[in-house]
Amino acid sequence: MEIEQFWTDFNRGNLYQFNDLCPTCGHPLVAFKGRNDEPLSKGACPYCGYRAEKGHLDIVKQTDEFYRQARKNDAINFLTNVSVFTTFSIFNHRFDKFIAGTDKQRQLLDQALKVSDRLVNNELVHSIFTGGTGTGKTHLAISVLQDVLERTAYRKKVAFVDFQELLTQKKNAIGSREDSRKIDGQIAKVKQADIIVLDDLGAESSGEATQYNLDLAAGLLKSREDKALILTTNLKGNELRTVYGERVLSRILAHSANNNLIFNSLSDYRLKEGAK
Ligand SMILES: Nc1ncnc2c1ncn2[C@@H]1O[C@H](COP(=O)(O)OP(=O)(O)O)[C@@H](O)[C@H]1O
Ligand SMILES: [Mg+2]
Repeated sequence: MEIEQFWTDFNRGNLYQFNDLCPTCGHPLVAFKGRNDEPLSKGACPYCGYRAEKGHLDIVKQTDEFYRQARKNDAINFLTNVSVFTTFSIFNHRFDKFIAGTDKQRQLLDQALKVSDRLVNNELVHSIFTGGTGTGKTHLAISVLQDVLERTAYRKKVAFVDFQELLTQKKNAIGSREDSRKIDGQIAKVKQADIIVLDDLGAESSGEATQYNLDLAAGLLKSREDKALILTTNLKGNELRTVYGERVLSRILAHSANNNLIFNSLSDYRLKEGAK
């Protein structure tokens, strides 16, 4: 009911005034009168729009759901626009699609769920997933992101960076100022995310990485000193230190002590019988 319409009807005596007050804002509830001056509905608040038929909770729920949907749109747009990846299908990874057939896989799933709990709890988590190709590192890392988004009702900004793809995109952008600016702008936004997955760090380096790669990784890691990070790599802890250096890694490693997942003893999931 429009407020002006309300006063017009009120002054004409067209409205029935209940003794009940609006539970949202405290004004008397009103309804249009019938032939015998009886109220024609259960009453509504002309100030805030509360309607007794629908109930207080419904309105609160509807509003919550409206904002949750708006946040979801923002968070998903951020994730898909800012992330660096090769195939969109990675965003389908979820905990419940991770098959924990072995004790080791159950342990990894359990550890990843704990990482997710800590992130939901707003803890500064730095977590390193180490292990060979095809062992489920990316699957579980994305699952954590999706789980945190859902459980925080999309109150976090999260992003994913396939480091190898980033190197490729940077290389391809050389010579094009526009492409370079685009990818650099994307990276600047990634750095602002609450949580990032930096995927496949070190895969390119059989022992050595170029200064360019190191600088790019160092910049991303530096942005994470006070923010959450999940790092996946095929390098072992000591190799990671050798390649990227103590200085770049020390803050990250300091926080990661209880959050590291070691996938080493698994063979490539994709090469196993029965795996898609
Ligand atoms: N335990 C698992 N249950 C279901 N799918 C898995 C499992 N481990 C790996 N996969 C799937 O195998 C493929 C390779 O896993 P991925 O996470 O990309 O490995 P990594 O990042 O360690 O190289 C992906 O399609 C992933 O969904
Ligand atoms: Mg991977």
